[in-house]
Amino acid sequence: MVKRLIIAVCLLAMSSALLMPPKMPVLAGDRQPPLPCCVPQQWEGLQHMIMGQVISGQPNLVNVTYRQSYDFSNKKLALELLGSPRTKVIQDYNKMMQYVISGQNCSATKIIGDMFHCIPASATHLQTFYFGGMQGLLMDAWQVTAPGLGGDLVVDVTHDGCIPVAEVITNKEAQSMTVLTYADITMGIRDPQVFNVPSPPCPANNNQTDGALNARFWLSGL
Ligand SMILES: *[C@@H]1O[C@H](CO)[C@@H](O)[C@H](O)[C@H]1NC(C)=O
Ligand SMILES: *[C@@H]1O[C@H](CO)[C@@H](O)[C@H](O)[C@H]1NC(C)=O
Ligand SMILES: *[C@@H]1O[C@H](CO)[C@@H](O)[C@H](O)[C@H]1NC(C)=O
Repeated sequence: MVKRLIIAVCLLAMSSALLMPPKMPVLAGDRQPPLPCCVPQQWEGLQHMIMGQVISGQPNLVNVTYRQSYDFSNKKLALELLGSPRTKVIQDYNKMMQYVISGQNCSATKIIGDMFHCIPASATHLQTFYFGGMQGLLMDAWQVTAPGLGGDLVVDVTHDGCIPVAEVITNKEAQSMTVLTYADITMGIRDPQVFNVPSPPCPANNNQTDGALNARFWLSGL
């Protein structure tokens, strides 16, 4: 386990170094820093998360891939974990509730924090660069400290369209470091039923209100 964590931390360090390229003017003609952008209103795609954290002095690793459906117009987020057991997380920011559905079980928890939508105005533009090289993806790297979004973040989005590509989140308080990468993103929501909370088993009879969790830390509660 410790060995795995060390490997993970090395990977995290490597990937964050890659995601934070040195300050070099990649685009000689493009000196005007872009304005902070907002991710599209509705999209779906794969998200991979590797999170290293320390819980009660013990190293812990979360390594998961899930299918994400993001709907800012209706303030809803659905995450379906790939693999087994098949677990689904639905966040409803109208009710500020999160539902974790696993088989015939459902737990409902209050969430705190805002649904991520825009690079905050306080963010610092690190640089515009090509991810992977000249035939690569033209991107912008933003750095921001936002406890509501999980701590200190470097967010990489496409220069055109503001589509999320990668995030590195460092949270000193939670003693965690998270790398999120996004793939195969498509615009729109193919099936709005993806946000439906199945009844039964939801809502669960355990009405947890004291277990409020930060919207972006839902996975640590799984
Ligand atoms: C994450 O999970 C994948 C698939 O199970 C595995 O191949 C990979 O080695 C894991 N990575 C880490 C850092 O444990
Ligand atoms: C449902 O909850 C019960 C009791 O906590 C547990 O034993 C069971 O493994 C859970 N099933 C799933 C699919 O999560
Ligand atoms: C859950 O608790 C909240 C706050 O105490 C209360 O307003 C709400 O009616 C409760 N819901 C259920 C289903 O018991």
